[in-house]
Amino acid sequence: MLAIAVLAAGKGTRMKSDLPKVLQPLAGATLVERVLANCRHLAPQRQLLIVGHQAERVERSLAAVAGLEFVLQQPQNGTGHAVQQLLGPLDGFEGELLVLNGDVPLLRPSSLEQLLEKHRSSGAAVTLLSARLADPSGYGRVFATADGSVSAIVEHRDCNAEQRRNNLTNAGIYCFSWPKLAAVLPQLSTDNNQGELYLTDTVAMLSPAVHLEVADPDEINGINDRLQLAQCEAVLQERLRRHWLAEGVSFTDPASCTLSEGTRFGRDVLVEPQCHFRGSTTVGDGCRIGPGCLIENSSLAAGVELLHAVVRDSTVEAGCVVGPFAQLRAGAHLGAGCRIGNFVEVKNCQLAAGVKANHLSYLGDADLGANVNVGAGTITANFDGVHKHRTVIGANSKTGANSVLVAPIILGEAVTVAAGSTLTQNVPAGALAFGRARQVVKQNYRPVG
Ligand code: UD1
Ligand code: CA
Repeated sequence: MLAIAVLAAGKGTRMKSDLPKVLQPLAGATLVERVLANCRHLAPQRQLLIVGHQAERVERSLAAVAGLEFVLQQPQNGTGHAVQQLLGPLDGFEGELLVLNGDVPLLRPSSLEQLLEKHRSSGAAVTLLSARLADPSGYGRVFATADGSVSAIVEHRDCNAEQRRNNLTNAGIYCFSWPKLAAVLPQLSTDNNQGELYLTDTVAMLSPAVHLEVADPDEINGINDRLQLAQCEAVLQERLRRHWLAEGVSFTDPASCTLSEGTRFGRDVLVEPQCHFRGSTTVGDGCRIGPGCLIENSSLAAGVELLHAVVRDSTVEAGCVVGPFAQLRAGAHLGAGCRIGNFVEVKNCQLAAGVKANHLSYLGDADLGANVNVGAGTITANFDGVHKHRTVIGANSKTGANSVLVAPIILGEAVTVAAGSTLTQNVPAGALAFGRARQVVKQNYRPVG
């Protein structure tokens, strides 16, 4: 039987933020979401989250997580006090309790598996994760013998100069035999530099206590301030880029690009410098992205080319060319082989295959049939000040430069709109529509030469 408890009640004073620390984002997910995701594969019987500072906000952010029990710690008097709040909810529980600090997001799921395995095979009362850090300042130090048994953890602030030279560091991740931990939790005292109840003090009260050292010290990076947040982001981004380079994606300047966990690439994709992929985004085989693109929650089919483009909440079918300097906003759907050129914005539009809008246009709330040619400066006037209306343009139609289509409006197939027209009425298939003042020429208006 396994229960998991994540400590997420602290304020995170050192972040200097109105946001609770565990809700700070890292590569598109909050710290606490990452910690929960890292242990999901262990399939625990119970999953408890200790909340306190801005508890409601933290709970709301995790409302969609099934089976999560929230336990309130009020006030927040240290990590030992946090775990004392479990004495009620876990009364009578006989299994193991895995405790995770909510601000240690880079742990690999495999390290947690190894921790559990070691705990079970060694029969220890507590097994904790440790690492040797080049700079362990700020972290608790683990005092252990060569055979791996731990006598105590001493917090950085409580260490003397000699003890601070020990670089074996406490990760803040522990597997306890719950009945044994429950027996010693009430004995914790506040006799330390911060006057708090420390979970780390239970280690000296439990026997046997052992540790498991992780090979990659980056895994145990804790986040207390913005510098550590930025360092963890860099570690995560490096992991993501290495993963996709190994999967056959080319990056001409990998360090200048950022990825999200939800980004998927096909084969032979080329990513040029300064491209950013966010949320859940799919990039098909042979796409060429960048330089200078932002793509969020979107799907690009095979062979799409983007250059200096922003694409959000959109779908782009095979072989489209978008940019430079184009924006696809929520609900843009480009059929195969569309071309969207410079200074063109597309929002909530269905574009059938082969539509071209190459220059200076706004297409919003519109349905365009196959091979429509949108002339430079064409605007769909979709908003009457109160409501949004749709524009429908039939296949093979062509709008002249500087056309304004005042929605709601329907143009049939193969319509031609004269340049400079403002259209407010529907146009039947095959027609030519003018909506502009007739040109007037007054001769001999000024002397010439
Ligand atoms: C803690 C450990 C330290 C370890 C480090 C690893 C203790 C006493 N020290 O120190 O040995 O090296 O983590 O990153 O445990 N929290 C609560 N309630 C509280 C206080 C904290 O839920 O009353 C939560 C915080 O939200 C946070 C976690 O516990 O997610 C750790 O708290 P923090 O204050 O950051 O501990 P550290 O000083 O980093
Ligand atoms: Ca911390």
